[in-house]
Amino acid sequence: MGKENRMLRFITHNLNKDDQEAWSVMLQEQKEKLAEAQAGEDCYADNQGWLSVEEWASEEKLESILELAGEIRKKAEVFVLIGVGGSNNAARSVIEAFRSERDTYKKRENPEILYAGNTLSPYALNEMLQQLEGKSVYINCIAKNFETLEPGSSFRILRQYLYRVYGTEAPGRILATGTAGSSLEQLCQENGYRFLEFPHNIGGRYTALSNVGLLPMAVAGIDIRSLAAGARDMERQLRNWEQKAEEHMAYQYACLRNLYYQKGYRVEMLASFEPQLRFFYKWWIQLFAESEGKENKGLLPMAAEFSEELHSIGQFIQDGSPILFETFLHIREQQDFLVVEPDSLPDYFDYLDGKDFFEINEAAYQATVAAHSQKLPCLTLELDALDAYHFGQLFYFFAFACYLSCKLTGVNPFDQPGVEAYKAWMFEALGKGKGKKA
Ligand code: PA5
Repeated sequence: MGKENRMLRFITHNLNKDDQEAWSVMLQEQKEKLAEAQAGEDCYADNQGWLSVEEWASEEKLESILELAGEIRKKAEVFVLIGVGGSNNAARSVIEAFRSERDTYKKRENPEILYAGNTLSPYALNEMLQQLEGKSVYINCIAKNFETLEPGSSFRILRQYLYRVYGTEAPGRILATGTAGSSLEQLCQENGYRFLEFPHNIGGRYTALSNVGLLPMAVAGIDIRSLAAGARDMERQLRNWEQKAEEHMAYQYACLRNLYYQKGYRVEMLASFEPQLRFFYKWWIQLFAESEGKENKGLLPMAAEFSEELHSIGQFIQDGSPILFETFLHIREQQDFLVVEPDSLPDYFDYLDGKDFFEINEAAYQATVAAHSQKLPCLTLELDALDAYHFGQLFYFFAFACYLSCKLTGVNPFDQPGVEAYKAWMFEALGKGKGKKA
């Protein structure tokens, strides 16, 4: 199959005539916003380093990430990724998608990847610490400005653990990824920890294609060259000035979700029949919630893991308040095989005899689209396969679509002022700034 056929496809299932017309009008009227997004904007220069995949995931940068990852892979049995939100979601979504023992990367010598810096629960942190016992441990603290409580506190307990176990060898096992000039860089310089640059011109949730996302993925054995190639191909498609706006996939998607918002829908439900995407949902939810949910505007991004959640949230989708529309992520090609063999016991499931679970899962997807289309707008983003290359496409596609979508609603896609409110109360409660080492 040609490369161009391996690109994501955007499908609408049940657009009615009125919506079709309103969508066509919007696609015409907002064209300028697409052109601005394709070019990048001076007002967002500090946040648009991700627009060009080349800037932070060039062959040279990939080479040096792979070299460092190779060294860690030889020495580490456990690699702890310390980070929260944009500082861990992208890497985690890919690593967790391919974590099975059956996936090829696991067949090579790989460290187990653990996560910290994303919780303040002593139970969860103790559980993580317990898993380090007796193993060769490396850690990477990823924090843009090193002010966030969760990664800061986890970094401290993990550093202390390493010093206790490895003594003077501990610094060699400590890495950090932060903005040049930050207090994290200073800590690294003063203590001999390796320091990687967090892109100064990208905010957390847009950093999948940089040191932030790529180093942990490479340590886990993910093919980051292929992932970057997918993102680059998507960039080429989405920043192709010659393509007609009405045919631009991310613009079509951004306009349609905004049209639904204007019509009163308040939730976008991302759904798929592949549990491998479980952690990708978290990345997607963070991207849209933090980028778009501001100034009393925005669609609430939610996700549903089908077919399991057809037996819970499925009731609400089909029959509850009509506040949501659904975007399916559908994987077209068969990735795995498992046939239901005939059985002599009468369990009344004979109609499945000889069918592969791929076919059964596919029937469930088609049936769900048919049923839900009776009630709410349904869209599909279809990918040929679930692999590193397509993850690269997904990261770039959604980042670009989210940026466009925010432009359509008129909010800043790159800040998150609402996240600050609770922090002031929490820091007050914890006495930040009152002690001698504030
Ligand atoms: O997208 C964002 O900018 C945020 O979600 C951050 O990634 C998150 O708050 C973590 O910030 P930091 O890397 O500074 O600890």
